[in-house]
Formats: sequence, C-alpha cells, structure tokens
Amino acid sequence: MSKKITLLAGDGIGPEIIAEAVKVLAALREHGGLDWVLESGLIGGAAYEATGTPLPAETLALAQDADAILLGAVGGPQWETLDIKVRPEKGLLGIRSELGLFANLRPAILYPQLVGASTLKPEVVSGLDLMIVRELTGGIYFGQPRGVRRLEHGERQGFNTLVYKESEIRRIARVAFTIAMKRDRRVCSVDKANVLEATELWREVVTEVAAEFPDVELSHMYVDNAAMQLVRAPKQFDVVVTTNMFGDILSDCAAMLTGSIGMLPSASLDQSGKGMYEPIHGSAPDIAGQGIANPLATILSVAMMLRYSLEAPIQATRLEKAVGTVLDQGLRTSDIYSSGTTQVSTGAMGDAVVEALIHTVD
Ligand code: NAD
Ligand code: IPM
Ligand code: MN
Repeated sequence: MSKKITLLAGDGIGPEIIAEAVKVLAALREHGGLDWVLESGLIGGAAYEATGTPLPAETLALAQDADAILLGAVGGPQWETLDIKVRPEKGLLGIRSELGLFANLRPAILYPQLVGASTLKPEVVSGLDLMIVRELTGGIYFGQPRGVRRLEHGERQGFNTLVYKESEIRRIARVAFTIAMKRDRRVCSVDKANVLEATELWREVVTEVAAEFPDVELSHMYVDNAAMQLVRAPKQFDVVVTTNMFGDILSDCAAMLTGSIGMLPSASLDQSGKGMYEPIHGSAPDIAGQGIANPLATILSVAMMLRYSLEAPIQATRLEKAVGTVLDQGLRTSDIYSSGTTQVSTGAMGDAVVEALIHTVD
C-alpha cells in the first residue's frame, strides 16, 4: 500500500531545499521500488500570510494523517515583529507538540570528503560520528507560566519557566540508551544540575534509567563544559542526551564540526516511531532566493525518513552513499566550498544526487 508523505516547505530557503528532496523522492519512487503519495501543506510565515495562522488546522490534519512529514524551515525577518503567538516558529513548535514528537535525533557525521570544510583541525574532527538526542516537546520552550508582565513600579519583566516531569525525562533517556545500544554504548547526559533544579531531577532520572541498560556507560556533563568539549575533542562523544534548549544550541555547534549547518539532518519521533524530518538549520533569509542553499541536510533527512518511518533502510543507505558520491565528485554548494572543488547551485546539487542515486547499488 502506498504511504503518505506530507511536505511542509515553509519559508526562506525552505521551498528551495524541499524541491531538491522532491527530486530525490521521485527518483526513489521510480528506481527504488517504493511508493508514496506526496501532499503539500502550509506552515510558518507562508501559512500566516495565507490564513492568519502559522499552523492551520488543515496542515495539522494532513500531518496527523501522514506516515511521515518532511519540513523545510520556517521564519524570517518580516514576521519578527508579529505577536509571538502567531509567529512562524510557533507553527513548528505547535506541530511538534500536537504530534507528540518528543524525541529529536540530530546525528553529526562528518563525511570524510568534507574534512577541509570544517573550521576545526582535521585530526580533531575526522571520523566524527555523534548523535544528539534532544528532548523536543518540553522544557523551557513549553513551560508555563510565560510572558511579559508589568511590575508594580512600572518596569516590564519577561519570564519563562523550565519544567520537566519525570515521565518526560524517562522517555527521552530511554530513546538515548536504546540508540546507544546500537552504537558505541556510551551516553553523555548534558544538564545544568549545579544550578537548575529541573535539571537536577533530569540527572537523577537519567541515572535511574541507566540501570535498565547495564551495557551502556553513562556520564554526566554540565552544558557549558559540553559546549567547550564539543569543539575541543568532539570524538569523545557517542550519544548526547539533553534538554530542548540545550539540544538546540549544542546541535548548531555540532553542525559546524561536519563542515556546515547545511549538512545536518534530523528526525523528530513520537512514542510509536512516527516522524517529522527536517534539516536542523533555519530559513536562512540572508541567502534565500539565490539558489545557493545546501540541500544536503534536507536530502539526508529524507534518508532518515526512509530508515525510521518508511521501513526502507536499504534505500536510506543507498541515498547516503549517493551523497558521498557527489562529494567524491568534488561538487560543493558555497557553504562547503574549498579550493580545488567545484561550486554548484542548490538545483545542480540535487540533480547530482539523483544521478548518483540512480547509479548506486545498495
Ligand atoms: P539559520 O540556520 O537560518 O541561518 C544561519 C546561517 O547559516 C546563515 O548565514 C545561513 O545562510 C546559513 N545556512 C543555514 N542553512 C543553510 C544551508 N542549507 N545552506 C547554506 N547556508 C545555510 O539561522 P538564523 O539566521 O538564526 O535564523 C533565520 C530564521 O530561521 C529565523 O526566523 C529562525 O527563527 C528560523 N529558524 C528556523 C528553523 C527551523 O525551521 N527548523 C531552525 C532555525 C532557525
Ligand atoms: C530548530 C529551530 C527551532 C527550535 C525554532 C525555529 C523554533 O531553531 O529546529 O533547531 O528552536 O527548536
Ligand atoms: Mn535550532
């Protein structure tokens, strides 16, 4: 039976990178023995302009009905002054929350061809393969109360609340340990337990969960040190599990170890494994409309989708190999360009992946 994939292109470079993923999906359908129906929906600023809300009910219904969702990016300077409740980013947060996509997997893998694109020394990054498991539907992003209030003496005060329930910590920890079992069996839990009670509980609960996984080694690290260690010696990490906001920040940092933020895909999964797939970067308004964005993070997100939601692990590996092939051919978008390689547009990169895919056997 054919699967349903919902495409949510969003804003800025979103439509440009999703167009390349669609080329790849078409090639996989034609040459991969897979079948699906693609349906597009509005999200973010594009949805706000058309309907007055960044997450229309129709989009949510489409997403709920789909086997998997592929998202580009949302946001842009033209919507920054809107009420925060209708900003593009609320559409993304809303869909994550409504679909219960609490587990965000952000693998930072350095393709050997891109060692020279990283800002770090080759010996520091070569062979890098780490997995950041970010809690995605809780923490300070969703905690109540939140807002801006007027104090008695007239000054305004902004406030957000960092909250985590034991159950929320336990389920994300289990995801991290389960992934670690299939990797190098090491989990580093990143928190700020020296200052924040909510993450003191985080540390306690993760330690309890570790007892269910005696074969996995657990360590703890404060987030400030983790940020430093990520650029000092990133290969010390196997699986990193952390809160919503810390995971957001640390994954952008990890992205740069792989050469560019344009290389990092992600999967956001619910309890049953249903998922939404998106690059970790944003709508890149500074380069939108120029045809220069790197589509590989989105294409690699398609590979994660094949693996986690569409039961097509062989095709996932084939697609990842095809990305390796275009890098072997020396093709680079401007963000990963270095001398001696060939600079190509977003569209040419997508075409090259399709071409490589057709010629890649699993
Ligand atoms: P950003 O990730 O959009 O861009 C940061 C820098 O990285 C920019 O210089 C950009 O040109 C570059 N970059 C990002 N993706 C790239 C790609 N694929 N190829 C080449 N270069 C790339 O972050 P920002 O500038 O802080 O945010 C811009 C907007 O995106 C904001 O509205 C923000 O809220 C939103 N945002 C959305 C998401 C998402 O939809 N998941 C994620 C992050 C930021
Ligand atoms: C990301 C983004 C989002 C986040 C924003 C746009 C809501 O930065 O997906 O990393 O903070 O989660
Ligand atoms: Mn982010």
